[in-house]
Amino acid sequence: MSDGLLIHPHGGTLTNRIAEAEAATKLRSEAANLPAITISSKQACDLEMIAIGAFSPLTGFLGKADFESVCRDMRLSSSGGEGIVWPIPITLAVDDDTKANLSEGSRAALKHSDGTLLAVIDIEEIYPHDKKLEIPNVFRTEDEAHPGVQTVLEEGEWLVGGPINVITVTPEKEPGEQFTEHRLAPAATRAAFAERGWKTVAAFQTRNPIHRAHEYLCKCALEICDGLLIHPLVGETKPGDIPAEVRMSCYQVIIEKYFVAARTMLSVMPGAMRYAGPREAILHALIRQNYGISHFIVGRDHAGVGDYYGTYDAQNIFDEFAPGEIAITPLKFEHAAWCKVCEGMTSAKTCPHDGDQKIFLSGTKVREMLANGEKPPQEFSRPEVAEVLIEWATSAVAST
Ligand code: ADX
Repeated sequence: MSDGLLIHPHGGTLTNRIAEAEAATKLRSEAANLPAITISSKQACDLEMIAIGAFSPLTGFLGKADFESVCRDMRLSSSGGEGIVWPIPITLAVDDDTKANLSEGSRAALKHSDGTLLAVIDIEEIYPHDKKLEIPNVFRTEDEAHPGVQTVLEEGEWLVGGPINVITVTPEKEPGEQFTEHRLAPAATRAAFAERGWKTVAAFQTRNPIHRAHEYLCKCALEICDGLLIHPLVGETKPGDIPAEVRMSCYQVIIEKYFVAARTMLSVMPGAMRYAGPREAILHALIRQNYGISHFIVGRDHAGVGDYYGTYDAQNIFDEFAPGEIAITPLKFEHAAWCKVCEGMTSAKTCPHDGDQKIFLSGTKVREMLANGEKPPQEFSRPEVAEVLIEWATSAVAST
């Protein structure tokens, strides 16, 4: 069934950088004689996102003009990308030793840390990694304690730009980390929506288990869209975040008991987290547009970490663009919490009661409760989700 009724991909065309069988065979033999770049786990996530078209219209890692334009203006350069919106540079950083073996106008093999050949890059440019330009613009801070800033600081001092031809999308991972059944590429996701007859679909990005506030946002979105895609990020996250396989079990138990199966889909988004708050909210939205999503949920402090961003910065940034520049509609939600007086999920927009009537729990408090085998109140978390988390938290404690 055609997905013609769904929103168009960002930039107009869904890219696909996965080589066909015959081309892949040729690339494999060519790669044996090419200089190799062993890529980081963040870069491997980016490679997969480019390969499957989730980063459309990107066909590879950014060259210099695009890098600078994205950092400064949140747009691809007018020469290559016609100035279309792109908020975070997708780059291939390498160190001095690796750079010494590379040259512009030639090719290199991109390898996973386990040695698996992933792709071949056509090297169009090699240029200095201007971290002084990237970090303050993308993260709005230069604090080395920020996990996204830290990752960029640890990266190599050179950037390699050019299109990629991908041979292996996902190398073998530990059993349970692959999520094969839920790893739907944008084209397959669009086909699944078309199959269900959905024209408007809301997506919920998350890197956490679904608690009651998350569930509330999802259900409000479902009231106005044909369907909901719960679309957790399962690419690289920072130490301390709950592992994706534990979260997947949480999503499955909550969907089974509390969501309408015919209106809800679960699949994974293999991108890496940057913790870049507002700019990352734009990236998350554009990615979802490529998956055929029409409405994207943006709640409080989306993709934030610590106190680096204001509660609604990630919503307000959408207003910096002219109408139509970003086709997907952000669904902006106020901070939601259970109100004891209203006896339901509320926000400041819907409930007149004071904060002390609301059930707020800090992440630290919740982790403490789970590690002690204690369920958070059911106004905060569904008991089925709490059980999965307690099992993980108590066995993780036992094994440390
Ligand atoms: S994120 O890094 O993916 O943004 P998280 O999984 O915690 O982190 O949040 C998923 C989505 O839910 C984000 O859009 C976030 O803004 C929103 N969100 C989380 N908690 C709340 C809340 N209590 N009220 C409103 N929105 C929330």
